[in-house]
Amino acid sequence: MELPEGFKKKCSEAKSVVFFTGAGISAESGIPTFRGEDGLWRKFRAEEIASLDALYNNTKEFFEFYRERFLSLRDKLPNPGHYAISEMESVFPDVSVITQNIDGLHRKAGSKQVFEIHGSIFYEYCQTCRYRQRVPDERDEEVPRCPECGGLLRPDVVLFGEAMHEPDWSKAYTAASSADIFFSVGTSALVYPAASLPFVALERGAYIVEVNLTDTPLSRYANLVLHGKSGEILPELVRAAKEIMGRL
Ligand code: OAD
Repeated sequence: MELPEGFKKKCSEAKSVVFFTGAGISAESGIPTFRGEDGLWRKFRAEEIASLDALYNNTKEFFEFYRERFLSLRDKLPNPGHYAISEMESVFPDVSVITQNIDGLHRKAGSKQVFEIHGSIFYEYCQTCRYRQRVPDERDEEVPRCPECGGLLRPDVVLFGEAMHEPDWSKAYTAASSADIFFSVGTSALVYPAASLPFVALERGAYIVEVNLTDTPLSRYANLVLHGKSGEILPELVRAAKEIMGRL
């Protein structure tokens, strides 16, 4: 892969590298994106199902939707894009992954510092008393109730209108602020506040690399735009980065 000199120079000096990922990185693991042709939000209206309003007023459908999401994501496996990111830990001293995905695939691929700013489908917590637990594989009740107080046991994912997942969001913001290289991978860069992170990095002087099938609103601000599948481009970037760092 032919890379610009500016990128090579940044790589050779970089200490802190951030990967900011969206649904596109998991597309090659067989998980549909949100806004693509088969996108989840083309089938469901996000604000009607993934919202607090739905939790309270359309409770059965809300839990049916999230039970299906849990079952469909539970057994998915990382793809070469996720593995390439975790391999970057052997190249750069400090690698953080900020993900908008709730599928847990970065951790499954071995990444150690992962900030899940939209939460995780593998956990649930009580809307009333905040009791938290792993989502059980087997479940009989349609509307799960908290074993402590009987409140609604809702998925630990960020619903529309809710604040970002903490402490992950604060840590993500700090990581973006101190990034030397900031990779934005497989995200439409449309959903705020998550989409503000590349701009935080940019303002602090990070070199911005975008990996996506198409252009996004971020593309014109990026120092380097690589079009293609993340499962193909990221392994090439690992090889290139290792070569630049003299580790091949
Ligand atoms: P989107 O569905 O909005 O965007 C997916 C992006 O990935 C698009 O820009 C695609 O071009 C790109 N893409 C698809 N396949 C790819 C591949 N193999 N390699 C590289 N790029 C690929 O998903 P997100 O940006 O993640 O939030 O959406 C952000 C948030 O919107 C989600 O976290 C979710 C949703 O509403 C919540 O649910 C809170």
